[in-house]
Amino acid sequence: MKKILDLITEELEKAFGKAGYDGKYARVTASNRPDLCEYQCNGAMAAAKEYHKAPIKIAGDVVEALENTEVLEEVQAVNPGFINLKISGEFLSGYLNAMHKDERLGYEKVKEPETMMIDYGGPNVAKPLHVGHLRSAIIGESVKRIARFAGHQVIGDVHLGDWGLQMGLIITELKARKPELPYFDPDYAGPYPKEAPFTISELEEIYPTASAKSKEDEAYKEAAMQATFELQQGRKGYQALLKHILNVSVTDLKRNYANLKVDFDLWKGESDVQPYIPDMVQKMKDEGYAHMSDGALVVDIKEESDTKEVPPCMLLKSDGASLYTTTDLATIVERMKLYQPRQIVYVVDKRQEMHFVQVFRCARKCGLVGEDTDLKFLGFGTMNGKDGKPFKTREGGVMRLEYLLSDINEEMLKKIKESRPMSEEEAEAIAKVVGLSAVKYGDLSNQASKDYIFDVDRFTSSEGNTGPYILYTIVRIKSILKKYEEQAGLIPEAPILACGNESEKALMREIARFNAVMENACEELAPHKVCAYIYDLANAFNKFYHETSILGTEEEALRNSRIQLLVLTRRVLETCIDLLGFEAPERM
Ligand code: ARG
Repeated sequence: MKKILDLITEELEKAFGKAGYDGKYARVTASNRPDLCEYQCNGAMAAAKEYHKAPIKIAGDVVEALENTEVLEEVQAVNPGFINLKISGEFLSGYLNAMHKDERLGYEKVKEPETMMIDYGGPNVAKPLHVGHLRSAIIGESVKRIARFAGHQVIGDVHLGDWGLQMGLIITELKARKPELPYFDPDYAGPYPKEAPFTISELEEIYPTASAKSKEDEAYKEAAMQATFELQQGRKGYQALLKHILNVSVTDLKRNYANLKVDFDLWKGESDVQPYIPDMVQKMKDEGYAHMSDGALVVDIKEESDTKEVPPCMLLKSDGASLYTTTDLATIVERMKLYQPRQIVYVVDKRQEMHFVQVFRCARKCGLVGEDTDLKFLGFGTMNGKDGKPFKTREGGVMRLEYLLSDINEEMLKKIKESRPMSEEEAEAIAKVVGLSAVKYGDLSNQASKDYIFDVDRFTSSEGNTGPYILYTIVRIKSILKKYEEQAGLIPEAPILACGNESEKALMREIARFNAVMENACEELAPHKVCAYIYDLANAFNKFYHETSILGTEEEALRNSRIQLLVLTRRVLETCIDLLGFEAPERM
């Protein structure tokens, strides 16, 4: 379906034309003076220059030409030359009925679907998920859903961090504890045991222990670096250990992400793309892009327009080891080969921006991607505690994601129990669903690039711009509909009617914005636009609800129309929260 603003604009275009003016001046926007009108067109002001006439005269001519329109029920030229508009109730309800009939709520799929890869999550194997990974997961998941809903072919890749020193640290610590294991015997010919020599909780303890030791003990650190090197050179026993670490870790990560309602199409990692590195590097050398500098192999990527220093992109260190950049470049090689994406979006902490500037420039310069592939960095800001500093535990350590989520759930549980009497079991189930909305909405309602303060109290509140507020609104609608069904049986198939009160019409206008909001959120990869929309929509609904006795509406056709309006409001809200990655309970 066409967007409602476009339909009104088309109407004004005709009128501008009829009155002898260029239709390019006809653009209509939502009113910024809702007390005066619903929509407005300011084109007469701009047209005044071209036609050497007073804007109010042009506005008057256009208003006159709009006389017989069915789209608008009130048009007015006001000084100095605004055209104030009110949409026809009939036209608006017709639009809503068409939305309601369409399973996509009037949002058409993109004409030219693109293959799009989203690189998000980015957890590091064997290290517990911490709050720093939360934003990537939440934003990436939502962007994926929004783009998929638009009709694009979207592939989400978790891009595991499984190729760094942490692997060598774990191997070194395991060796110290269980030197008799066959993985450490260079002469062992295999096969290696199927069962991992550790559980996830052991693994989670091994890494921090090893990491702490390496900071105090130089020899230990040396050993870990050596183990990392040998692993990367393909030492068999270590490769087998890597597989165990990956298996155990990924199982645990999947469980954690499932709790967050986040999932990935691909569980690839840094280690998967290592085989691409030698050829890639060779080609960069052969084609003259890579050169030696202080013993390292680099590609220059400075550009004249740079306002700050962009260091060369390093491919190999002087000892021949590859780096984070090299791995990201090789990942691009693999992605282009296997999926030919039109776009790769990286949802990563914005403090890594320079890394991606280097990777993107190098990839482009060396021809890893062509002109028709976009590489996009969707950098997000830091999640801060109430003190405005990066979120920490009370003891000042890195906050584990699980603890953060259980903090929220606890607070939510307390609030849920206060709201009405219910069983412990029910309260816990509801707290879990609502708690997730609190975390996700609290995050997504901010523009991704901005830092924000993680405020458990505010996020879990059922008032204000929060996830629980949105869910309360949905649950309110559900309970009215349930009550209706109890009283009157099935929801009637009935059209949404034009009559009704001001707040009803305002609600209808909000609903009608749906496809425009979705299109914009997808183009800008901006879940916060969906949040802002459902906040407005929920407010419009609640105003209508407080001013109108819905079930008590006397006249049957109008009552049925209102019931359908509720069903439609719920559909729109539920579609949106699904795109944000959470859901509503039946009751709260
Ligand atoms: N594992 C990285 C980290 O924890 C994030 C990975 C981001 N994605 C990428 N393609 N580099 O910092």
